[in-house]
Amino acid sequence: MTNSKVGHRIEELTTPAFLLDLVKVKSNCQGMLETCKAMGVSLRAQTKTHKTVEGAVLQTGGSRKGIVTSTIDECEFYADHGFDDILYGYPLIAHHMPRISALTRRLEKFHVMVDSKLAVETLIASQPPTGKTWSVFLKVDCGNNRAGVWWEDEESIILAHQLGSYSSLITFRGLYVHCGNSYYAKTDVEVEKVRDENIERLLNFVDRVKERGVTCETIGIGSTPSCKKPSDNMKKLDELHPGNYVFLDVQQSTLGSCIVDEIACRVATRIIGHYPKRNQMLIDCGFTGLTKQGEGMLVTGYGIIRDNPNLKICNMTQEIGYIEPLKGKLDFEKYPVGSLLFIFPWHSCATAAMHSVYYVIEEDKVVAEWKPTRGW
Ligand SMILES: Cc1ncc(COP(=O)(O)O)c(C=O)c1O
Repeated sequence: MTNSKVGHRIEELTTPAFLLDLVKVKSNCQGMLETCKAMGVSLRAQTKTHKTVEGAVLQTGGSRKGIVTSTIDECEFYADHGFDDILYGYPLIAHHMPRISALTRRLEKFHVMVDSKLAVETLIASQPPTGKTWSVFLKVDCGNNRAGVWWEDEESIILAHQLGSYSSLITFRGLYVHCGNSYYAKTDVEVEKVRDENIERLLNFVDRVKERGVTCETIGIGSTPSCKKPSDNMKKLDELHPGNYVFLDVQQSTLGSCIVDEIACRVATRIIGHYPKRNQMLIDCGFTGLTKQGEGMLVTGYGIIRDNPNLKICNMTQEIGYIEPLKGKLDFEKYPVGSLLFIFPWHSCATAAMHSVYYVIEEDKVVAEWKPTRGW
C-alpha cells in the first residue's frame, strides 16, 4: 500500500501541509540561473531551503554540479544522488573529519570551508585520501558578523597565505562570503548598500591576498536579497550562492526580492473552530506547521493568509493557530469549520524544515511529492 498523494486534490490532503507551486519553483530557479548567466558568474546554489534532490536538480539546471550545503548530511545525501562539486559550506570542526574524508574520497570535487586558524590546523592534522588534497574555501566575514575571518584583519590575510602554501595537503579554492546582513536592511536601497559593501570588502581582501602571491581562484558572495538585485560589481565575482530564492517567502517580499505572488510555497491549513465571543477562529496549523519566525514583523502576524488581507495569525501554540480580523467582526459563514486557508510563511527555510514531505502542486492537484533529507 502506498500513502502517496500524487494525483489527489489539495482538499484531500491532511493538514497542515506544505505546498509547492511547481510553476513558481521552476520560474524562481530558472530566473536565478539566467541572472547568473547574464552576469557571467557561476551559480553555486545553496540547498538548505529545501534539502531535496528535485529542488537541487532545478537549481543546477539539471547538471547536478555546483552546490553548497549547510549540513554534512546534505553533502552525503546529494553525493548519494549523483551530485558532484559540493561545498560543505559550514565551519569545519574535527568531529566532521571522518565524513569529510569519505566525501573527499568518493566525489570528484568536494570542498570544505574554514573560518579560523584552528580549522586550518584541524585540516592539516589529517592526511587527505590517496591522490587527493583537501579542497578549501576560506570564509571571510565582510560585515555579517557570523562565521568567517574578519576581512580587515592582517591575520586573515596570513591565513589565506598559509592556505595557499600547503600545496601537498590543500588546494586553496578561494573565498566565500555570505552577506546575510542584507536581511537587516529596511529597504531595497539598503540591501543594495549591504551587497556593495560586501563586494567592495571582498575585492579589497583579494587584492591584499594577491600582494602575498596567492591567487584566489573563486570568489563569491550570496544571500537571496543581494542576488535578486544584480549589479555591475557582481560581474567581478566568480560565483554566487543564494538559496532561499527557490521558494522565497514573506520576509523576501519585505526586502524587495519578490512580490508575494512569486512565493512558491504555502502551508495549507483547516479551520477547526469558531469563537464568536472573542471574534476569533482556530486553525490546525500551530508553530510546528509554520514556526513563529517573523514574530512582531507583520501586521498580519506569523505570515500572510492568501486572499485574506484582513486576517491575522495572532497566536500559535504547538498544533493550533489563532486567527482574528485586523478590523471588524469575523464573517464566520465565510470560513466554515473544515475549510482551507493558505499561509505564505515569513521564513520558508524554517517552515519547510517542519515538514517531512512537500506536496508539489499544479493548479489544485498534487503532481509530485518531494522528500527532504533531515538531520545533520
Ligand atoms: C553560508 C550560507 N551561504 C548561502 C546562504 C544562502 O542565502 P539565502 O538563504 O539568503 O539565499 C546561506 C543562508 O543562510 C548561508 O548561511
